[in-house]
Amino acid sequence: RFYSVIPAGGIGSRLWPLSRADAPKFLHDLTGSGQTLLRDTWDRLTPLSGEQRIMVVTGRAHRAAVEKQLPELTDPNVVLESEPRDSTAAVGLAAAILQLREPGVIIGSFPADHVINGSVLFQSAVAEACAAADAGYIVTIGIQPTEAAIGFGYIKSDGGLDIEGAPSALSVDSFVEKPSPEVAEAYVADGGYLWNAGMFIARADRLLEEIGASEPELLAGLLELAGAWDTPRRGAVVDKVWPRLKRIAIDYSVAEPAAAAGKLVVIPGQFDWDDVGDFASIAKLHSGGRKANLAILGEGARVLADSSSGIVVSHTGRMIALIGVEDIVVVDTPDALLVTTSANAQKVKAVVDALKLSG
Ligand code: GDD
Ligand code: MG
Repeated sequence: RFYSVIPAGGIGSRLWPLSRADAPKFLHDLTGSGQTLLRDTWDRLTPLSGEQRIMVVTGRAHRAAVEKQLPELTDPNVVLESEPRDSTAAVGLAAAILQLREPGVIIGSFPADHVINGSVLFQSAVAEACAAADAGYIVTIGIQPTEAAIGFGYIKSDGGLDIEGAPSALSVDSFVEKPSPEVAEAYVADGGYLWNAGMFIARADRLLEEIGASEPELLAGLLELAGAWDTPRRGAVVDKVWPRLKRIAIDYSVAEPAAAAGKLVVIPGQFDWDDVGDFASIAKLHSGGRKANLAILGEGARVLADSSSGIVVSHTGRMIALIGVEDIVVVDTPDALLVTTSANAQKVKAVVDALKLSG
């Protein structure tokens, strides 16, 4: 009764120039595992849902790369977007299609671009989430915060709930997506907040109901698309409806309102979780937390380093020499070179935005 959904759409602009529109974050090996993050995600989910029951929602342009990574992925489980319309549209369309094919199915949406260690703990958290979803809740997985990050949702939990099969489920008092730095600081100081890991588990019909409560037009579009999906009308309906869907993240359309209405619960995840959103977090991942290390990524990277730490990502084979630079970030690609420091890694997105503006 469980279906996994992998929305694979984000570009990962804070990982420029490694991550690009044509080579987004989920198509990179950022852990040194020898596999892309997308493949890691797939391998994490197959024990839970089986490879026949994982749906991938991605852009048309990524189809070939995704299918190369996931040769087991079958045609009915590939949902292609003509353009990105954000996560409510991506996950909502998967929910609407699956609900028609299999009424009452429970779906879990899992980002394609996270790093998770501890698959047994991950699986037990998802199993609990499924039990709570079966009881009608919208379920998310919470992570103990380690800093006042502003790129995450924050979950204030209330206390335990009595749900069969979900002993660690907590009721949610509020969900706040991407708070300001001051608010994030206050939440972390308070100690009663968890980060949202970006995973949502719910009965497909319940998820659609929540989307409809906050975004009725968007839901109507999703239902129209789903109704035509497994028919010859698919192409025509996609061309008409998809480009008009409102762009809104599922955190705003579902998580915040469901929390306010007492319909959101959180399962605290005990596994190691990292969204590897910027080069500082990748450097940390590879140095095992030790600051003095220099992490080197990229096949055939040639690096000479003296008294230097941080991260070098090289995709050119060009010789890179570092002398006496600490917490450095160097990313060398054929057409763009980034040099910054770990402390400034978050600002890479602003550079990318500026580049887009200047064409
Ligand atoms: N197919 C598709 N199309 N997928 C999309 C689209 C789209 O247009 N937009 C976003 N996604 C996917 C991303 O690929 C990712 O898997 C997921 O939806 C979340 O989108 P992000 O853009 O990565 O969101 P975020 O990182 O800013 O925030 C979310 O994740 C955080 C944890 O990493 C939120 O859920 C936060 O609350 C959470 O803390
Ligand atoms: Mg993300």
